[in-house]
Amino acid sequence: MKPEPLSEEEVARVIKQLESGSIDEIEPLSYHWTELYTKFLRAGVDPETVSTIMAVKHTDVLQWIEDGEASDDPSSPEAQFASEFERALAQSKAAFVSTIYKAAVIDKDPRWAAWWLEKQGMVQGSGRTEKVPLRAPGGPTMSSGEPASAYRSKVRLRRRLLRKAQLEMGTVAYVPFVGHGHIAQEMYKRHRIIGADIDPGAANIAVNRLPESSTIKVADCETWPFPEERGPVTIADFDAYTYPYGAFRQFWDHAPKDDTLVMFFSDGQKASIQKLNQYRHPAGKLVPVKTNLATKREKTTSYYKDVVFPWFEETIPPYSIVEHDVVEHSMMIYWGVIIRQ
Ligand SMILES: C[S@@+](CC[C@H](N)C(=O)[O-])C[C@H]1O[C@@H](n2cnc3c(N)ncnc32)[C@H](O)[C@@H]1O
Repeated sequence: MKPEPLSEEEVARVIKQLESGSIDEIEPLSYHWTELYTKFLRAGVDPETVSTIMAVKHTDVLQWIEDGEASDDPSSPEAQFASEFERALAQSKAAFVSTIYKAAVIDKDPRWAAWWLEKQGMVQGSGRTEKVPLRAPGGPTMSSGEPASAYRSKVRLRRRLLRKAQLEMGTVAYVPFVGHGHIAQEMYKRHRIIGADIDPGAANIAVNRLPESSTIKVADCETWPFPEERGPVTIADFDAYTYPYGAFRQFWDHAPKDDTLVMFFSDGQKASIQKLNQYRHPAGKLVPVKTNLATKREKTTSYYKDVVFPWFEETIPPYSIVEHDVVEHSMMIYWGVIIRQ
């Protein structure tokens, strides 16, 4: 039988344990540990801070979630933790959403109404920002509007390839589309991050989140924003909403590149084929697609294999691909490579 949830007194007691350093008495992934962890999450504390409070490495927590999601045994501690984690985030979000809903709709506060519309991607900002794609219904989301599960797919992809690349500490990681800096913080803290975002608000959040050695600019990444950089750049992470290749082409033509490069791309062109009957080729041109369903389905399925990959192989010589990985999440394609010359 499941024990009763922790009472507030128990939480206070455990916090004392944390303060006195006797946290070791609570076994990570035990029922009480998970209960306490998710209690903080439900209260709205962000996961990384909760890991710090619970005196575990956040990278370990993410690994447990990854293992739990991949596990065939739903009763394993990792699987239990993964599902409780997801549920707690959703509950926390529901609590905050209902508060904002009250402020925006019931109390008719136009500031919260405007904030809500903006978060939903219902208003276009000025300038050349990409539109926030519609997110999957339900489920927790990241500040960028994408589902948390998509974010974790991206993290797993990066972890796999970075592990294989075995890079030294302190290499240069170029992170255009840095957003709030979630990926940069999680993946590249041990490197020197140079990043940019067209949205000053997002860039400001990234600055506060990332190590002091980082340089974050407000810039359009469809230009090379670091002409002064001597590099060499070893990691380039193009986590765009829909089209990463304009930024890649600029990087490729202008950046000082290392002999080994690890690169990641987030490509949303399949949604464009489905909804707009066209896609933007990685080389830049808009390509119309016949509107009948069968052609669109065929194009969507073959787009990566027949369009993106051959273009990439043609573009990179004298480099060639050493490792390659791709994951698809709904209409997004996340892919990465290690290339060498
Ligand atoms: C998917 S989000 C990136 C999330 C980020 N990787 C993270 O981990 O938080 C895409 C970001 O690209 C930015 N963006 C869109 N168009 C851009 C452009 N032309 N130049 C620079 N940033 C751009 C958006 O403001 C948004 O923050």
